[in-house]
Amino acid sequence: MKIKNICCIGAGYVGGPTMAVIAQNNPKINVTVVDKNKERIDLWNSKDLSKLPIFEPGLDKVIDETRGRNLFFSNEIEKNIINSEMIFISVNTPTKSYGEGKGMASDLTYVESCARTIAKVAKTDKIVVEKSTLPVKTASAIKNIFEQIGRDVNFEILSNPEFLAEGTAIRDLKHPDRVLIGGEQTKSGKNAISALLKIYAKWVSSKKIITTNLWSSELSKLSANAFLAQRISSINSLTEICEKTGADINEVATAIGTDSRIGSKFLNPSVGFGGSCFKKDILNLVYISNSLGLHEVANYWNQVILMNSHQRNRFAKRIIKTMNGTISGKKITFFGWAFKKNTNDSRESAAIYVADKLIDEKAIINVYDPKVKKDRILFDINKLESRSTKANKTLVNLFDNPYKSCENSHAIAIMTEWDQFIDYDWKKIYKSMTKPAFIFDGRNILKKSELEKIGFKYLAIGK
Ligand code: NAD
Ligand code: UGA
Repeated sequence: MKIKNICCIGAGYVGGPTMAVIAQNNPKINVTVVDKNKERIDLWNSKDLSKLPIFEPGLDKVIDETRGRNLFFSNEIEKNIINSEMIFISVNTPTKSYGEGKGMASDLTYVESCARTIAKVAKTDKIVVEKSTLPVKTASAIKNIFEQIGRDVNFEILSNPEFLAEGTAIRDLKHPDRVLIGGEQTKSGKNAISALLKIYAKWVSSKKIITTNLWSSELSKLSANAFLAQRISSINSLTEICEKTGADINEVATAIGTDSRIGSKFLNPSVGFGGSCFKKDILNLVYISNSLGLHEVANYWNQVILMNSHQRNRFAKRIIKTMNGTISGKKITFFGWAFKKNTNDSRESAAIYVADKLIDEKAIINVYDPKVKKDRILFDINKLESRSTKANKTLVNLFDNPYKSCENSHAIAIMTEWDQFIDYDWKKIYKSMTKPAFIFDGRNILKKSELEKIGFKYLAIGK
């Protein structure tokens, strides 16, 4: 099948950047990203590129080059499905918040709704690509819908999970470690794989394009995220031993990371991993394992999540203990709210959970983040439903200026590793704070000796 038009359902952190890079490298294919959220589409279409709905370094340049040429953003979902030979499903797949599998399984409502719309409106053959992260075997559920509802139209389903990380999405998309395409091992399945492969081959070396069966591809995505998160929980578990023994976690990470079998990446100790996917994807893996009766496997992966919550809790408790066991009425400034640097995304950020625990102890939290919007910060805290929204509003103060956010503060907690924090005028900050002035570095990005020379009481993770 020759692909002239692509439609991607879901204009989020994955759909937007992924389709922009596909459009950039395939100028002869028209790519339209559709979403039911009108406000989001309007932002994707805004003339002022600083208003794009997501912040990713380099994204504005790609959008500038492609938008209006062969990349379009639209709310016309059905029309664009009808016009396209290939349809990507890139909608959110959150953890279920109700019913069977509540708090564990993936909520496939949005994916199913896309499949139903495609089945209902398609008049010609379609290749449907799962871009969302899905439980293994979802393709068979989607196929079922097509068989029940679709009329005289052939649907080929492919799994093409996305491995980009936020903050480096454009770099990851332009230079991927690999592209994974799973499909049915039939003649038409193989043709569909080849059609998608040709699109990626425009800029990705064929050596880096892996093709597998559908189930291997679906499971590989969950497995990759589980392995990555496991590395963080592993290094974070060691931070606690370091703090009790005098070992230094950064020295340990360097020492083990030089073993080429272990590798040096993804060994940065932290206040805990966040982001919309690690927790949800591991919970999903745990749920699938339990559903298959594999309880030991489920318990094994669940421990990665338990260790992560423990790390966040431990960070909050260390703040309380260090500040004489009482933080009631004390101001604690959070530098960073995003779950990592170079993104405006704060979903599941460790900062939310640490703030919540400190507010429970009656602390006042000041927050400065260079990219996360103020109403998003309040939304995150309110979502936990620990207290009334009115109470949260009085206990959480939001700032546009980092220096102002520290005035009269008793402590600063570094929650996100934004580069700019390293170069701040720390002498000026120290002068404006209540003494003793503490820094709790949840990312180990600052220099202990320099800060102690200024007068700060400085605590890093795993030291
Ligand atoms: P997101 O919440 O940013 O975007 C999803 C979009 O889909 C939303 O704008 C929503 O309005 C839209 N949508 C939902 N149902 C729809 C429907 N029926 N019709 C039209 N639009 C609909 O989500 P995201 O972060 O882009 O993640 C999407 C998927 O990709 C998830 O499965 C996630 O696990 C996976 N993933 C995410 C990342 C990441 O870095 N965020 C990386 C790899 C994979
Ligand atoms: C992660 C994966 O890295 C991507 O490959 C995957 O596509 C994506 O999830 C997804 O499926 O959504 P992302 O969550 O955007 O990407 O960002 P990461 O760089 O993986 O960071 C996740 C969290 O781990 C962040 O809170 C980060 O600060 C933390 N982290 C990361 C550490 O604490 N230490 C590290 O060494 C690395």
